[in-house]
Amino acid sequence: MGMSEAVESKCQARLDKAARSVGQAIEGYLCHEPSIPETLYKSMTYSVRAGGKKLRPVMVILACEACGGKEIDALPAAAAMEMVHTYSLIHDDLPAMDDDDMRRGQPSNHKAFGEGIAILAGDALLTYAFHTIARHVHEDGLVRKLVLELSRAAGAAGMIGGQACDLLNQNSVGGLDTVNYIHTHKTAMMFRAATRMGAICANADEKQVDVLGDYGLKIGLAFQIVDDLLDITSTTEEMGKRTQKDQSAGKLTYPAVVGMTQAQQKADELIEHAIATLEDFSESAEPLRYLASIVSRRKN
Ligand code: IPE
Ligand code: IPE
Ligand code: MG
Ligand code: MG
Ligand code: MG
Repeated sequence: MGMSEAVESKCQARLDKAARSVGQAIEGYLCHEPSIPETLYKSMTYSVRAGGKKLRPVMVILACEACGGKEIDALPAAAAMEMVHTYSLIHDDLPAMDDDDMRRGQPSNHKAFGEGIAILAGDALLTYAFHTIARHVHEDGLVRKLVLELSRAAGAAGMIGGQACDLLNQNSVGGLDTVNYIHTHKTAMMFRAATRMGAICANADEKQVDVLGDYGLKIGLAFQIVDDLLDITSTTEEMGKRTQKDQSAGKLTYPAVVGMTQAQQKADELIEHAIATLEDFSESAEPLRYLASIVSRRKN
């Protein structure tokens, strides 16, 4: 079941516009308070302004719209999601973790500012995310729900747990269960939180929140499998980060465990299932269906 070209370009335009709105919203929230040291602020904005696809915050907005909400209602949650994601990349690149010197097409944060400031800029973005939700979401019940989702997904039972398992299994002979745990936790939980938070911003019912969360989880796992594949098949120029690194670093990746063909099949299957999850949603979920379809054909 393909989409017509006209629908695809309409959806792409929606994604592009949502990504721009997120960029603007973050700029607005991250204003330079005089008490923030200049170098720290520069380091924080260095990584935020480097771009990035903004897939997760766009998913917050699209999930909100799929449930009948408006973009503006989702912006604080979307911005918070991107702040947490950006922090996770800054720390992921540190010498003590993946030791990567390039990110988003420029020197990684610690290359530009030193390790100490990079660690602190990451910490600052993480805390700013929760500040942003508390400060800019104007209904207390909503703040509580959003903080629950984001803290759970970003923390030890979510992304941090996955990152820890990723490190602990470097140069190991872990199997499918382990790589599934790693990918689900380090990446897919944040995607799941993105769509759940979007639905929550629209005051959607629990069922809709769960369905959109399932969609997000599947997309997230597919996204990380494709990231593993692109590490093998893509170039540093295209990706804006070093490629051909996972194998030499002894990373437990999907292609390492099941091979490239099966990894691609698994990603395609997850995307198909993610789209099927949305069957009860009407045309309002079309941009989410489109987003699913571009995850496996993405080039960066
Ligand atoms: C990179 O995420 C980290 C992974 C989970 C693979 P993205 O590929 O979404 O990074 P940006 O935000 O576009 O830079
Ligand atoms: C990182 O996974 C996932 C995060 C939670 C940051 P990777 O280590 O594969 O991400 P890249 O390839 O460095 O972007
Ligand atoms: Mg990593
Ligand atoms: Mg990495
Ligand atoms: Mg990777």
